Amino acid sequence: MPSTPGPSDPTETFASRAEALRGEIADHNTRYHRDDAPTITDADYDDLVRELRDLEERFPELMVAGTPTSQVGSSPSGAFAPVRHRSPMMSLDNVFSPGDLAAWGERLVRTASDGGEPFTFCCELKIDGVAISLRYENGALVQAATRGDGQVGEDVTANVRTIESIPSVLPDGAPSVLEVRGEVYLPTSAFVRLQATQQEENRQRTEAGVKPRPVAVNPRNAAAGSLRQKDASITARRGLSAWCYQLGEVEGGPAFTTHFDTLEHLASWGFPVNPEIRLVGSIDEVQAFCDHWQQHRHDLDYEIDGAVAKVDDLARRAELGVTSRAPRWAIAYKFPPEERTTTLVGIEVSVGRTGRVTPYAVLEPVFVGGVTVTHATLHNEDQVKAKDVRVGDTVIVRRAGDVIPEVVGSVPGPDHDARPVWEFPRTCPSSRPVELVRPEGESDIRCPDPLCPFQRSGHLEHFAGRGSMDIEGLGEQRIRLFLDLGLLADVAGIYEIDWDRLARIRGLVTRWASDATAHAQERLGDPKAKLAEVEAADLAATQPAESDAVADLPDEYLAELVGDPVLFKATADGLRGLGEEAASSLRAAIDGSRERPLANLLVGLNIRHLGPSGALALAAALGDLARIASADSAAMAAVDGVGPVIAQSVRDWFDEPDHVALVDRLVAAGLNTVGPESSSEPQVLLGKAIVVSGTLEGYDRQGAEVAITSRGGTSPGSVSKKTTALVVGESPGASKVTKAESLGIPILDQAGFERLLQTGELPD
Ligand code: IVH
Repeated sequence: MPSTPGPSDPTETFASRAEALRGEIADHNTRYHRDDAPTITDADYDDLVRELRDLEERFPELMVAGTPTSQVGSSPSGAFAPVRHRSPMMSLDNVFSPGDLAAWGERLVRTASDGGEPFTFCCELKIDGVAISLRYENGALVQAATRGDGQVGEDVTANVRTIESIPSVLPDGAPSVLEVRGEVYLPTSAFVRLQATQQEENRQRTEAGVKPRPVAVNPRNAAAGSLRQKDASITARRGLSAWCYQLGEVEGGPAFTTHFDTLEHLASWGFPVNPEIRLVGSIDEVQAFCDHWQQHRHDLDYEIDGAVAKVDDLARRAELGVTSRAPRWAIAYKFPPEERTTTLVGIEVSVGRTGRVTPYAVLEPVFVGGVTVTHATLHNEDQVKAKDVRVGDTVIVRRAGDVIPEVVGSVPGPDHDARPVWEFPRTCPSSRPVELVRPEGESDIRCPDPLCPFQRSGHLEHFAGRGSMDIEGLGEQRIRLFLDLGLLADVAGIYEIDWDRLARIRGLVTRWASDATAHAQERLGDPKAKLAEVEAADLAATQPAESDAVADLPDEYLAELVGDPVLFKATADGLRGLGEEAASSLRAAIDGSRERPLANLLVGLNIRHLGPSGALALAAALGDLARIASADSAAMAAVDGVGPVIAQSVRDWFDEPDHVALVDRLVAAGLNTVGPESSSEPQVLLGKAIVVSGTLEGYDRQGAEVAITSRGGTSPGSVSKKTTALVVGESPGASKVTKAESLGIPILDQAGFERLLQTGELPD
């Protein structure tokens, strides 16, 4: 949040700060409301307004006429005919915490003449779209206008007529003049489709040497852009929708006494009224509504940025009245932001276990979606090009639910064009700079090097992970350590670790480390200060070079270890954690993993396209590793659940002599190679297709899949008529939930999932 200036010359500094804020906010208003091209996120904007409002409240003498804190939106752009609203289209005041919400409730009680009477609140979702006013005369839609500056908006009637959910004609009994207000939005699913289409268009443009066009960065901006198309047929294709939540001018028709009743009438006349609206009797219940939707915002197929509480009784509303920009009888409870702007410090690439090279953004740390984000994915080469993000740009970072943070785009800035366009590296960033490849027709770039150190450690982590051999205690750091020390080179090596050598290296390195620490302490007095640097220098002086244990360390690594104090410290720490007891429990975990089902082993081999379902199907149909290794691709493709792509990939994998040698070593190490009867789980899910969406406690994506497939079920990636049940964890995909609901497929939560795994039964 921007900080207020220090108190050296308070009035002058505060006055100039307020002035600067006003200028900044006015510019952002124009960019957001008029140009549909904001350069900061809503959350950053809210911070500026909050700061200005704080200043104006603390120093009322700083108030000036027309300050943005008393205004709504921005003047129309002139691209569409102006429409003067008969009554102003107001905004809402925001609160950001339970305390502020409670304070609003207390203010109501103090302001209302019958403040002792409990209030009934209508709780609504705060739709993140574009405000709209719809005017009907004698039952026909005659005008649709945007909010503009609250007084004058833009005539977008032709475009709004293309929105299916907005009625063009009202049934008999509706008022002769009726103005309905609401929010036009782009469903998340339609936004995802639009983005994919725009990205594909850009890919083709880039190929043809034409400059790419900006891609929609979020559903709100896309909705605003779609609504303000000059060609209504473009609007029609976008799939906009709307929720109505307020009345404007009315003549004739029934007299309303409550807001909820008004909304019910609107629904009965065919207006889209959001189904999640609830009536509650206290601020605590309003808070519970807000908390619920903060947790479940991604269950919806549209974006919300908060909840809105409105006094339900219209007479009490009239008494509470309005301020210059917002009603006193309503409040918006804003959720923590999921998008923030920050500086793009660099773009780097990481190499995954399959050799896929993924670009990612290195960011100026930014607090978004509840965590501090320093890295965010950029997905692939085409996405970086389509988003045209350049190092030094201000970028929008999004972290929604538990989804990995991503950079959605850069905001326009004066220096953008002068910055160099980022080029994907040509060679692998590991210590083996092999040339990268992008196979024809694929969006991913790969490292083709079978000996790539990054792929190797990624593969080892995958093999030891929960979805395959599930070796407790063999995580990323230990794998790194074992690789560095030359104790391990590939997955079969896990079963060939020379434990005596590990103990010798441990003895040696930890002795050096304590000698070095003693040296450092002696010299520094304060062991914490610059310990690492001194350790390196002292290490050279103290290491017993003649020790035969040195022979246990790879030469290259030994040189690095001595020269790099950080590496030395990490190694010493890692080894300290591998004392006799820890080493023997790791050894036991490795031994125990030999009994894992064949399907787990197949998953662990890291064969492209082969996931848990395919592995289980193969293991069940062919029954042992040798038969799978020698089966031809047609035989494998004939197995239910194994398509030709998987079959060919498995065949190719086993045709590789290095892989044959690896499998031989795994067999020699005594791993279980028969299936699937070695699955110790009861086969309660036979014939059942269970789709999982969102994060479940205690399971990663593959873990959940394995839990299902090891019980005889399948775990397809999408919901269809054949799906038995949809399991939803934290932040599930909205489209899966919507589809399951429309097909009447049972939806289970975590508890329902656990029950299903145990009994195979669905709840009644
Ligand atoms: S009521 C006079 N209800 O949020 C009250 N507004 O930040 C008019 N919005 O201008 C607004 N969902 O564009 C209301 N359920 C809801 C809303 C909602 C989204 C928008 C609306 C408003 C803005 C204020």
